[in-house]
Amino acid sequence: MLNEVLEHLVTVKDGIYVDGTLGGGGHAEKICEQLSPSGLLIGIDADADAIHEAGKRLQHVQTNVQLVNDNTAHIASILRSGNIPSINGLLLDLGVSSFQIDEASKGFSYRSDERLDMRMDRRQSLDAYGVINSYTEEELADVIFHYGEERLSRRIARRIVAKRTEAPIETTGQLAKIVEGCVGGKFAVKSLSRVFQGIRIEVNNELHRLKAILDDSLQFMETGGRIVVISYHSLEDRIVKTFFNGCAATSIPSGNKFQPDTPRNPELKVITKKPLEASEEEQKVNSRSRSAKMRVAERV
Ligand SMILES: C[S@@+](CC[C@H](N)C(=O)[O-])C[C@H]1O[C@@H](n2cnc3c(N)ncnc32)[C@H](O)[C@@H]1O
Repeated sequence: MLNEVLEHLVTVKDGIYVDGTLGGGGHAEKICEQLSPSGLLIGIDADADAIHEAGKRLQHVQTNVQLVNDNTAHIASILRSGNIPSINGLLLDLGVSSFQIDEASKGFSYRSDERLDMRMDRRQSLDAYGVINSYTEEELADVIFHYGEERLSRRIARRIVAKRTEAPIETTGQLAKIVEGCVGGKFAVKSLSRVFQGIRIEVNNELHRLKAILDDSLQFMETGGRIVVISYHSLEDRIVKTFFNGCAATSIPSGNKFQPDTPRNPELKVITKKPLEASEEEQKVNSRSRSAKMRVAERV
């Protein structure tokens, strides 16, 4: 949703913008092209390979660029340590990149048979192997149910725990076989992507980190600065929507019809009342964009 991002994000040409999910630098490159030579793009990614790739891609841009290999949930300390008092916009294009999914050694995909990993950041110790082989049956079922939204979570968790008592479950292929054994038939592919999504979200603590990024970035946002978020599943989108609406609220409900609501000063104005979706043309050429939802809010 490149055009939609470009249309909404940059409001000050010599401003400071954060791409908090830098990936291969596709969005960042175009944002840089909108900035003047005195503008600054801070690109953050938890994945060192993404930083490396984006670095190459952004070599030619005319504006200032700083790349940071960290989790964007640390945005407050990243900005403070760079002596950046405020920013003019933040982009989040959430989840994992197609590069990460296709790179078998990262162990994200059920389509290849690789060591269970799924870490965006190789420096963190918890990986998918740890989740699958050390979580209790109940914890696994909760992860698969809440983060994967998979109805058969309990059955799948039970089967994982039974299998790992024979020998540790080492690879994405072994996990995929277990899931297929529980679901089977034409429903297996959907269940596979739900289970893998759930484990990935747990490994990378994605939802808590998203909330932290939104909370902390607000403190740095200049008036008129925009937060643009593209999410790919309902759990992320709900967090963004709730956050935007909460910050845009002009009163706190008393919860009691005999007492008036308490007025409050909103911190955000919601620009997209309904989330934007990718155009039909984009959906045709980029299947991932079919589930994309983009929301924009402006600091007031
Ligand atoms: C969908 S891709 C972004 C693609 C990018 N917009 C582009 O044009 O190439 C998401 C990227 O964000 C990174 N990422 C996701 N959540 C992150 C977080 N909380 N902190 C840092 N990086 C994160 C992933 O490692 C991945 O490289």
